[in-house]
Amino acid sequence: MKRETRLVHAGRDPEKHSGIVNPPVYRASTVLFPTMEEFQRRGELKYTGFSYGIQGTPTTFDLTDALAELSGAHRAVVTSSGYSAITLALMPFLGQGDHLLVADTVYAPTRAFCTGTLARFGVETTFYDPHAGAAVGELMRPTTKIVFAESPGSQTFEVQDVPAIARAAHARGAVVVFDNTWATPLNFRAFDHGVDVEVQAATKYLGGHSDLMMGVIAARTEELFRTVKDGVSEFGDCVAPDLCYTVLRGLRTLAVRMRHHERSALEVAQWLARRPEVSRVLHPALPEDPGHALWQRDFLGSSSLFGVQLATGSPRAVAALMDGLQLFKIGASFGGFESLILPATPTRVVRPRSEPGTLIRLHIGLEALEDLIADLDAGFARLNAALSEEPAAAGSNRTATPSA
Ligand SMILES: Cc1ncc(COP(=O)(O)O)c(C=O)c1O
Repeated sequence: MKRETRLVHAGRDPEKHSGIVNPPVYRASTVLFPTMEEFQRRGELKYTGFSYGIQGTPTTFDLTDALAELSGAHRAVVTSSGYSAITLALMPFLGQGDHLLVADTVYAPTRAFCTGTLARFGVETTFYDPHAGAAVGELMRPTTKIVFAESPGSQTFEVQDVPAIARAAHARGAVVVFDNTWATPLNFRAFDHGVDVEVQAATKYLGGHSDLMMGVIAARTEELFRTVKDGVSEFGDCVAPDLCYTVLRGLRTLAVRMRHHERSALEVAQWLARRPEVSRVLHPALPEDPGHALWQRDFLGSSSLFGVQLATGSPRAVAALMDGLQLFKIGASFGGFESLILPATPTRVVRPRSEPGTLIRLHIGLEALEDLIADLDAGFARLNAALSEEPAAAGSNRTATPSA
C-alpha cells in the first residue's frame, strides 16, 4: 500500500469502537489492577502495556504505532516538544567522558544543549562541517557514541550525505541520530539511509496547525527503542492523550498538506530566485542549489521551508519588507497552514558565514500561490522605497530596481 493510504488508516480500528471512525481519547494517571500480584508485576508492562499515565494510554499507543508505520521504524515514543525529542534521544546513549559529533548546521537549541547541559555533565561535542560526509570518520574518537545529523541544515539548508556519515559512524560503533523535521518521513526515509534513531518536531508538519508542541523519537530496533523509552521515562517526560489525538488527526492530511507545501514553496522559491533584490535562494530542490544532487539522490520530495539571501544588508529596508506583509506573519516555527517569515541568525563555528546581505527564512503555507507572491512583491516595493531613502553611504546596499 502507498504511504498516503497507510497514513489514513494507521493507528485506528473503528470496529473496536462501535464503528466510530476516530479512536477515543483515553485520559489516565491511575491504571487499576484486579489483584495485588498483577499490580506487583506491572513493571513488565513498561514497553507494551498500561501501568500508569506517564507510560502512555491506548491513545498514545495509537499515535506511536502510526508514527512508527510512517517512519518505517521498529517503534516510536512521543515527547513533550521537538526539542525534548532531541535531548531525550541523545541522553540515554551518553555518559561522562563520552564524545559526540554534531553537524554545525543543526537547529540552534541542539547546539545549545551540547555546549550547555552535555558539557556540564562531562560530555564533549565536536561540531562537524555538514559537507564532511565520510570524513566524519576522521573526527571520531574511541569515546564517540553518537553522530547527530540534520539535513537540510537549519536556516542554511545544506544537504548532508547521510548514508556516508552513517557508514563511518557504524564502522566505529556510534549511533546515528537524525533530525528529520524538515522532510518528514514522507520525503526522507531516514532508516533506509542508515539512521538508527530519528527525531522529529511533530509541532511542525505532523500537527500541521500551529496549535501544539510535540516530539517524536523513532527507533530502528527493539534494543534502541528500549534504551530511548527508558531514558524518556527517567526524565519523567510524557504527552497528554488529547494532544496524541490531535496529532493522529493531523497525520490523516499530512500527505496532501506536504504536497501543497512542496509545490507552492518551489514556485515561490523560483519566483524569488528571479528577483534582482535576491542574491541566492537556499532550497535544495532548486537545480542551482549546491546540495541539489545529494537531495535528488536521497530525498523523495521537499517541504515548505527555505532561505533567501537578500542582497541588501540594510536592516531598515528588510524591516520595511517584512513589517508590511499581510499574509506572511513574522514568527518562529513552520509546518502550519499559515505562511511565516523571519530574519535568520545562523551560528556556525566550523565555517563561519560571510555572505553579504541579509538571510531570511520563509515557510510557505496553504494560502493561494498568487496571493503569497503578490504579498512578497509589495514587500519588495517597500524594500526598494526604503533603500532609495537611505543616505548615499548605504549605496552599496542598494539593489537594482526590479522590473515589473
Ligand atoms: C529542525 C528542528 N528540529 C527541532 C525543533 C524543535 O521543535 P519544537 O519547537 O517542537 O521544540 C525545531 C523547531 O523549530 C526545528 O526547526
